[in-house]
Amino acid sequence: MPSKRKKDIIIRDLSIEAIGFEGVAVGRHEEIVCFVKGAVPGDVIDAKVKRKKKKYYECRVEQIHEFSADRVEPPCSHFGVCGGCTWQQLDYDKQLFWKRRNIEDLFRRIAKIEVGEYLPYLFSEYKYGYRNKMEFSFSANRWLTDEEIAKDDEISDKYFALGLHLPGRFDKILNIENCYLQQNAANIILNEVRTQGYAVGMSAYHVTKHHGFLRHLTIRYSLAQDAFMVILTTAEITNDSEMKFVNDICRRLIEIIPNMKSFVHALNISHNAVMIDSYKILHGDEYLVESVCGVDFRISPFSFFQTNSYMLNPFIGKIVESAAIRPDDIVWDLYCGTGSISLPASKSAKSVFGLELSESSIADAKANAEFNGIENCVFSVIDLHGKNATESISQLPSPDVIIVDPPRAGIAQNIIDILLNSDCRRIVYVSCNPATQARDCALLTEKYKVTSILPVDMFPQTYHIESIAILDRIQ
Ligand SMILES: C[S@@+](CC[C@H](N)C(=O)[O-])C[C@H]1O[C@@H](n2cnc3c(N)ncnc32)[C@H](O)[C@@H]1O
Repeated sequence: MPSKRKKDIIIRDLSIEAIGFEGVAVGRHEEIVCFVKGAVPGDVIDAKVKRKKKKYYECRVEQIHEFSADRVEPPCSHFGVCGGCTWQQLDYDKQLFWKRRNIEDLFRRIAKIEVGEYLPYLFSEYKYGYRNKMEFSFSANRWLTDEEIAKDDEISDKYFALGLHLPGRFDKILNIENCYLQQNAANIILNEVRTQGYAVGMSAYHVTKHHGFLRHLTIRYSLAQDAFMVILTTAEITNDSEMKFVNDICRRLIEIIPNMKSFVHALNISHNAVMIDSYKILHGDEYLVESVCGVDFRISPFSFFQTNSYMLNPFIGKIVESAAIRPDDIVWDLYCGTGSISLPASKSAKSVFGLELSESSIADAKANAEFNGIENCVFSVIDLHGKNATESISQLPSPDVIIVDPPRAGIAQNIIDILLNSDCRRIVYVSCNPATQARDCALLTEKYKVTSILPVDMFPQTYHIESIAILDRIQ
């Protein structure tokens, strides 16, 4: 029975049965589904109800009575406060189990699709240190830990932080000293920039008052080159000491990180956190190079690239293999981004048409085609969900195979109609959101059967997953 303490409702001895697609654990109390952040299947807990809805409660762990056998000790000291990787306390095999179970659930139970085969997952050999890009923010509003607040001492650096946002708090930054998702050297870079910036009295940007100099630190890594690119984003330089700091930190990092191949100083003089007005290369090359399935990709400071270096070859290789492209095939790659699928796929096809909304991604895709001497790829900027999309797409040669890799929201109805009306023999639907993928596949079952689904774990320690669905035309 729920017992009341002040205004809180506590559900006693709740058994956690599952962990859902958004990474939230689930238990059941008298027919009411309880979603509990921070719990693990197999735990028995007291849950504090945070929000009460008619059919479900949103809860937090109040106390754990029985710890699940699937729990492991999270290595990261920021775990539980930082919102980065919420599954560190769950054994990796169990992470894979629940990711796959959730995909099956979405297709079988929610979308009611008969899938030919649920293939075993492709898993990441590197459970940590796999990310090739991390973006940290400076803030004039540091998140203070409970211990710091309890000590009641004067906190000297509370107006200077460099780290990650807390979940749901755009205005506060948690100082991150060691992020386990990136390489060790990247943590050295992170700490050096914070220490030096604070030591010489640089100001951190205040996101609501819009003053302060240092804004973001982005660290990119190329596995093929074993090289780092560091991008320091600041507000406009207004005095000599700011100019000196940018040059000094660049020199210092060259000294301590021998494989820092590039240092970029970027300016953002707007209030918008993600804008870049201009940038200058202060050291080394303008781009990193990453190698995927025999294609070399130039990665410039702000271009998109898949974030798990170690899974790039297996993931892209599997997409291309699944497409079963024949030498005379015309392939469409919709939502093609920078061409990380189109360019490797072009090696087996007659020609590939890559369509994408972002002009800069298409510019990167074209540059990468040229860089690799690939001549059978045509890339075009197009809003696939816009009103002229159907007309523009109808001008393309008709496809034998279509690859789609849409954003999390999935495919719009006009593209579903194009897929249904095309004569292509196979669709490879790649998605980082199996919920919208299952919804869209259900709409396509009018003309296609879902032959197989393969989960690919690009994001260990998080609930995120990539899923490759193969759809074959019903004869
Ligand atoms: C999951 S990413 C695909 C990345 C791509 N496969 C790559 O490896 O670079 C989804 C892509 O869809 C693009 N996109 C989003 N909305 C779009 C639209 N309405 N029309 C065309 N492309 C869109 C995004 O810019 C993004 O590059």
